[in-house]
Amino acid sequence: GFYVGTAVAGGGHHQEQDYPDPFTYDKEYRKILGRQFSSVSPENQMKWDFIHPERDRYDFAAADAIVDFADRHGQVVRGHTLLWHSQNPAWLEEGDFTEDELRAILHDHITTVVGRYAGRIQQWDVANEIFDGEGNLRTQENIWIRELGPGIVADAFRWAHEADPEAKLFFNDYGVESVGAKSDAYLALVQDLLAQGVPVHGFSAQAHLSTRYGFPGDLEQNLRRFDALGLETAITELDVRMDLPESGVPTPAQLRQQADYYQRTLSACLAVDGCNSFTIWGFTDKYSWVPVFFQGEGSATVMTEDFRRKPAFYALLNTL
Ligand code: XIL
Repeated sequence: GFYVGTAVAGGGHHQEQDYPDPFTYDKEYRKILGRQFSSVSPENQMKWDFIHPERDRYDFAAADAIVDFADRHGQVVRGHTLLWHSQNPAWLEEGDFTEDELRAILHDHITTVVGRYAGRIQQWDVANEIFDGEGNLRTQENIWIRELGPGIVADAFRWAHEADPEAKLFFNDYGVESVGAKSDAYLALVQDLLAQGVPVHGFSAQAHLSTRYGFPGDLEQNLRRFDALGLETAITELDVRMDLPESGVPTPAQLRQQADYYQRTLSACLAVDGCNSFTIWGFTDKYSWVPVFFQGEGSATVMTEDFRRKPAFYALLNTL
């Protein structure tokens, strides 16, 4: 009943860097993916820009391949994501739509994508990163909230639930590991939605951690607040980045500190009853998004670029 997952590399920054798709072409990668994990999350392959490249065209090939792979390996899938301010296609962000058209576009998207994988997705990140660091809704950046108002978030959950009544529906965000303005905002929103009978089932912390900022020591306590509302909780995108020395190779002390962060994150999840899904955002530095997105930081995953196990890998194994 406890799932250990990883993001499946492909699309996103991999595409920009012109890698051959690791999931398709890297045999070593696929072998580890099939053996070491009981849950998988498409890193980019179910995002709007990937799966819905034109208004009247969906592209399911990459997402289908991941869901099929998961079935063959007895793995569950976390769907990611349906309502987000980022990685939306230009036709959507730059299009000139009426409110009715936009609602219909979102309804069609959720019905089509969630419906296609109905019964095969354990958890869906329905709404991703809807609050900013101060706990305010992203009313400008998020096209849906900007154009249709905050009520669209509840509709997204309702539509997803109609399309797949079995899937557990989540709010997912970064910077919500600790008690603070952002996680407080989720707590209040979820209480409100539950009171209205909106089908919200889970709250998840991405957990993109950095040794620069220290470990969120109240992670367990924070997850318990959502557990107390009857929600499932999850860790969905854990990685632990660090400032690399000039050599590019982390020191033993850095690797020990990283292992400690991984272990404490897993322990926090294990300690909370309803936290049954623990996902790392890629398992090898070879394909990690971190060096691409965070200047000077790297080595964020549990395996080196040549698939050697770091202390963090063993720390997770020993904690399970
Ligand atoms: C990242 C992917 O890892 C990259 O490949 C892509 O280029 C950008 O997005 N929060 C999320 C994830 O919810 O979807 C993001 O994934 C990382 C931050």
